[in-house]
Amino acid sequence: MDTSSISFTAHYTGQVWAKNGLSNPQWQTPTGRLSYHALSPFEWVGKRIVGGNIRTFLLQRHLIIDHLLHQALERHPELQVVEIACGLSPRGTRFCQQYPQLRYLEADLPAMAKRKNKLLKKVGAYSQRHFALPLDFFRQDELGLRALFAQHLDHEAPVLVITEGLINYFELATLAPIWQELAQLLQQFPQGYYLTDNYPLLDNDPNKALMETLSGLLGWVSRSNVNFHFNSLDAIAPHYQELGFSQVRVHNPEDYYARLSLPENRGNPLVHVLEMQV
Ligand SMILES: C[S@@+](CC[C@H](N)C(=O)[O-])C[C@H]1O[C@@H](n2cnc3c(N)ncnc32)[C@H](O)[C@@H]1O
Repeated sequence: MDTSSISFTAHYTGQVWAKNGLSNPQWQTPTGRLSYHALSPFEWVGKRIVGGNIRTFLLQRHLIIDHLLHQALERHPELQVVEIACGLSPRGTRFCQQYPQLRYLEADLPAMAKRKNKLLKKVGAYSQRHFALPLDFFRQDELGLRALFAQHLDHEAPVLVITEGLINYFELATLAPIWQELAQLLQQFPQGYYLTDNYPLLDNDPNKALMETLSGLLGWVSRSNVNFHFNSLDAIAPHYQELGFSQVRVHNPEDYYARLSLPENRGNPLVHVLEMQV
């Protein structure tokens, strides 16, 4: 399965991180700048009319994942992190600056991993403990998760895996065997955690039709199957428990508005962050 048609979306998110002071200004790309400008009118209309927009939920998910990672590092200073589908995410550089012992592996499709290593080198952040690896989330060979875990992680230390902005490009059924394998791999460590964003679209959401149209549009431009995985929050934990995760917590941005000074939206936030443990 070739999923490289999704990679261009990392330029938009990368631009959002840069515009909000989360990333190095040197990581802005022409595609990122262009798409940021092109989408600005739609983002403006979304904020005014729907009460939230893409930039709102991107920042909500990114900052909540940061917060949960800080908490995990407080519990386990020896934690190793694997950020899958890292794109132009600046999280690794920010966390490695703050935690001098942290081992932070980024991973993405080969072309994006190569680009990321160049960017890390450009800002002097590339090191033995922080670099990007080529990975295809759906492969079972030397480019797959199992090989990455076997070759690059210390099985005596806890590990935390992040996927941000990846899973909703695929159907639940496509992801199920990959998550099952991830849960099995995490069980080989003293503690194993998984953080991801997700977009439950509740049946009574007043913007349901609009969201479905927008996701169809994103699916069309990224040549993927963008979709909403759950139509109720109660369905989330049992799904992942069945795949091998023992504890599943669903984090709603509303609960963090005050604590993390997140951008707020009117009504139910579209994004939620899932925190799982094996
Ligand atoms: C929306 S971007 C998110 C980037 C980054 N996580 C962020 O939030 O800024 C999606 C990322 O998924 C990566 N990707 C697509 N297919 C992948 C796969 N099969 N395995 C790993 N990464 C993949 C793309 O290259 C791209 O960097």
